[in-house]
Amino acid sequence: MKNIFLRATVIDILLWISLATLFSTSTTAGGATAKPGCESKCGELTVPYPFGIGLGTNCSIGTWFDVNCNTTFDPPKPFISTGNLEIIDISNDRLRIKNWVAAACYNQTGNRTRQNPVAINFTGTPYSFADTNKFTVVGCDDLALIRGSGGRNFTSGCLSLCSEREDLIDGFCTGIGCCQTSIPKGLTAFSSALGSLRNHTEVWSFDPCGYAFLGDEDVFKFRTSDFSDENFQNRTIENVPMVIDWVIGSQNCSEAKKSVEYACLQNSDCVDSDTGLGGYRCNCSTGYEGSPYLSPGCTDIDECKNNPCDENGICTNTPGNFSCSCKRGYAGDGTKEGHGCIAENSQFPVIKFSLGFSTVFVSIIIAMTLLYFSIKRRKLVRMREKFFHQNGGMLLKQQITSNEGGVESAKIFSAEELEKATNNYAEDQILGRGGYGTVYKGILSDERIVAIKKSRIMDQSQIEQFINEVIILTQVNHRNVVKLLGCCLEAEVPLLVYEYVSNGTLFHHIHNSGEKPWFSWENRLKIAAEAAGALSYLHSAASMPIIHRDVKSSNILLDNMYTSKISDFGASRLVPLDQTQVTTLVQGTLGYLDPEYFHTSQLTEKSDVYSFGVVLAELMTGKKPLSPTKSEEERNLATYFIMSVKENRLFKILEPRILREGTLQQLQAVGELVKRCLNLKSDERPTMKEVAMELEGLRKLTKHPWDQQGNPEENIALLSEQSTDLYDITITGQEITTETYSGQDSLFSHVIFPSNNPR
Ligand SMILES: *[C@@H]1O[C@H](CO)[C@@H](O)[C@H](O)[C@H]1NC(C)=O
Ligand SMILES: *[C@@H]1O[C@H](CO)[C@@H](O)[C@H](O)[C@H]1NC(C)=O
Ligand SMILES: *[C@@H]1O[C@H](CO)[C@@H](O)[C@H](O)[C@H]1NC(C)=O
Ligand SMILES: *[C@@H]1O[C@H](CO)[C@@H](O)[C@H](O)[C@H]1NC(C)=O
Ligand SMILES: *[C@@H]1O[C@H](CO)[C@@H](O)[C@H](O)[C@H]1NC(C)=O
Ligand SMILES: *[C@@H]1O[C@H](CO)[C@@H](O)[C@H](O)[C@H]1NC(C)=O
Ligand SMILES: *[C@@H]1O[C@H](CO)[C@@H](O)[C@H](O)[C@H]1NC(C)=O
Ligand SMILES: *[C@@H]1O[C@H](CO)[C@@H](O)[C@H](O)[C@H]1NC(C)=O
Ligand SMILES: *[C@@H]1O[C@H](CO)[C@@H](O)[C@H](O)[C@H]1NC(C)=O
Ligand SMILES: *[C@@H]1O[C@H](CO)[C@@H](O)[C@H](O)[C@H]1NC(C)=O
Ligand SMILES: *[C@@H]1O[C@H](CO)[C@@H](O)[C@H](O)[C@H]1NC(C)=O
Repeated sequence: MKNIFLRATVIDILLWISLATLFSTSTTAGGATAKPGCESKCGELTVPYPFGIGLGTNCSIGTWFDVNCNTTFDPPKPFISTGNLEIIDISNDRLRIKNWVAAACYNQTGNRTRQNPVAINFTGTPYSFADTNKFTVVGCDDLALIRGSGGRNFTSGCLSLCSEREDLIDGFCTGIGCCQTSIPKGLTAFSSALGSLRNHTEVWSFDPCGYAFLGDEDVFKFRTSDFSDENFQNRTIENVPMVIDWVIGSQNCSEAKKSVEYACLQNSDCVDSDTGLGGYRCNCSTGYEGSPYLSPGCTDIDECKNNPCDENGICTNTPGNFSCSCKRGYAGDGTKEGHGCIAENSQFPVIKFSLGFSTVFVSIIIAMTLLYFSIKRRKLVRMREKFFHQNGGMLLKQQITSNEGGVESAKIFSAEELEKATNNYAEDQILGRGGYGTVYKGILSDERIVAIKKSRIMDQSQIEQFINEVIILTQVNHRNVVKLLGCCLEAEVPLLVYEYVSNGTLFHHIHNSGEKPWFSWENRLKIAAEAAGALSYLHSAASMPIIHRDVKSSNILLDNMYTSKISDFGASRLVPLDQTQVTTLVQGTLGYLDPEYFHTSQLTEKSDVYSFGVVLAELMTGKKPLSPTKSEEERNLATYFIMSVKENRLFKILEPRILREGTLQQLQAVGELVKRCLNLKSDERPTMKEVAMELEGLRKLTKHPWDQQGNPEENIALLSEQSTDLYDITITGQEITTETYSGQDSLFSHVIFPSNNPR
């Protein structure tokens, strides 16, 4: 690992070196020409025109471009004109000069022992400080101001502090021991002076001096060792150059072109200075080289020297460019990058052969890539298909084909769509949880609010229930039955999408009266009548009778107008028309479960009637179907209700406020109806249609005095005995199998009992 890394760096470095040499040769070879008859070198430095060596020798374009080569040094040192700024490098737009570093040192008692401020003023010269310089302060108790003028006046400063040597971080010049600030373009003068907050008295032990300088950002790197380095100032002066922009004149190109002093000669372009101070520079046009300032200007580059064309091509140099063609007997465009030159009638068609070979090779690669992607795609499709199967897609399809017409109104939603609608099944979107899964509120992209039922992990029995619900609901279209909008089978667990019913469940309204506004007798009757109507419709009106099998108050949803909507058809059964009963696994919810069905496993529509009777009793009394904490007599609502009716004390168990709101006749009649619904013998129960009609009729009744009517004959002993049995099973729970019970007020909860005689 390390080895590879090292190798990579070495290669990088080699690359950099070759690039660097390439660049340096191109820049120096291009423009590094001195005026004829003038020195071109001062020490190591090549001085190209418009700069020239010697003061007042006419070797440069103007006195500010004179380079004072001081030969008292060995090797000689070049300085700008008459000044003391030593030139390190000249390029075609910039100078690099030796730095000037301001310093201030203190002794232990805080007396300043050394101080050298720096000021450089280029005003009136062709020079300005390039904005690649940064103003830098190094020290632990130092501040420095830079004041400059140029295009505009500029003042900035930097404060560098620290209290411990350990605070310093190598490479980070961000205010701890080192501080950097930018300067604007076109700064022509600056002066910097160092100050101190506490005269270094607190940091003197490791940092007696502070420094400030303007220098090339790319070169200066802060090192914590700088603090113990007595040579810091000299090292920075040597190593971190100041970068200087230079320009010709003070006019812009368009002005200068009109002037006799215009410096750019043939085949060169004028480039405006970007400092905002005016002035321009000259640059050879592409395809030309040489000095744009020296007669005769830039000259054509003979590109053909290094044959840029194909080895069988012919290169023709043109002014500023070149062209390629092919030798006789070859065809192509002749360029290296393009098609090159290919022999037309060669004896052994190596090129054709290799071309053909590479074509075949490329085709193979393309084919393999395509194959790879198609396999990947097929894998995805297969996974989707797997989920589709696992989620009963085939069963559903089968059902759809056998029940033509019904299902087309249901939409198939994509998994992604539903994830978005529920905010990725966020906790706060949960409307309810039950044995079957969780119900989320969702907002579809068309702003429709929906309820999304997400099943728990599926087993085969649940798949059937799921399909069951889809089939039944898509066949039913009744305003009091919750509408199924669609489903999604692509996800790992199937999802059902329903219309959103806004006001919770009937169970919630009856038993959580603290949270909900008072739920009037009128509304209760309305809901009961509507629910009964819907059940009656399911039992008779639909093309094939449907037994809900899990009628209970938590499966009746309410909207804001107290319109009831029957929901949860997971347990429902379609009953073929020629049969009146089917034998099934006993399934339902304790407290609502028809005792006869429980004992015989014979499911008829009267089982729903019994369960609905319990819901009616709940509506009248405000009591839960099962109250394990109450006395044995009161524990089972169905038993308790019948007993009360029989003993003529119905009014004692009714919710007091309902007693006031309803007419006595109404209450008595509903009580009687409940009693009939809860009859142990299913044959003696009314049909759902009768129940619906009676409730509808009762809604219209006005208040009447409470008149007592004849006692019904009912086998209470048998009833209570059986109910107790049922109740005992509930409490011990020993025989409860598959489903767990996760809260009465959930939208969809079931208990499934084992059966002595399964289908
Ligand atoms: C420089 O050129 C000016 C006129 O262009 C001339 O008067 C002067 O003598 C020249 N100086 C030198 C050192 O050649
Ligand atoms: C060269 O440098 C020396 C020492 O700094 C100085 O005395 C001398 O005047 C310089 N010569 C020129 C021509 O500037
Ligand atoms: C600091 O400098 C002052 C004045 O230069 C001097 O009087 C003092 O003795 C020096 N203190 C130390 C600790 O060197
Ligand atoms: C520096 O030294 C002088 C004496 O040379 C003394 O008067 C002064 O208080 C010292 N301290 C400072 C902070 O200047
Ligand atoms: C720079 O020099 C010019 C004259 O050469 C002067 O007017 C200007 O005030 C100087 N600027 C600074 C900051 O010293
Ligand atoms: C810069 O400041 C000087 C005085 O220090 C003032 O004369 C000059 O007008 C100012 N320049 C700009 C551009 O504000
Ligand atoms: C730092 O020194 C200056 C003069 O040298 C003095 O005026 C100032 O009070 C000193 N500050 C501190 C904090 O010692
Ligand atoms: C820094 O350079 C100057 C002049 O070149 C020299 O006098 C001084 O001793 C140098 N300082 C160090 C610490 O080398
Ligand atoms: C050049 O300068 C003149 C006068 O200062 C100005 O009118 C013109 O717009 C400038 N042209 C460009 C391209 O900046
Ligand atoms: C000058 O020309 C060279 C190539 O000939 C180009 O790379 C460079 O960017 C040009 N400089 C400017 C300032 O246009
Ligand atoms: C040089 O010639 C080629 C075509 O041969 C053309 O595409 C290119 O633009 C030319 N370059 C210049 C700078 O004219």
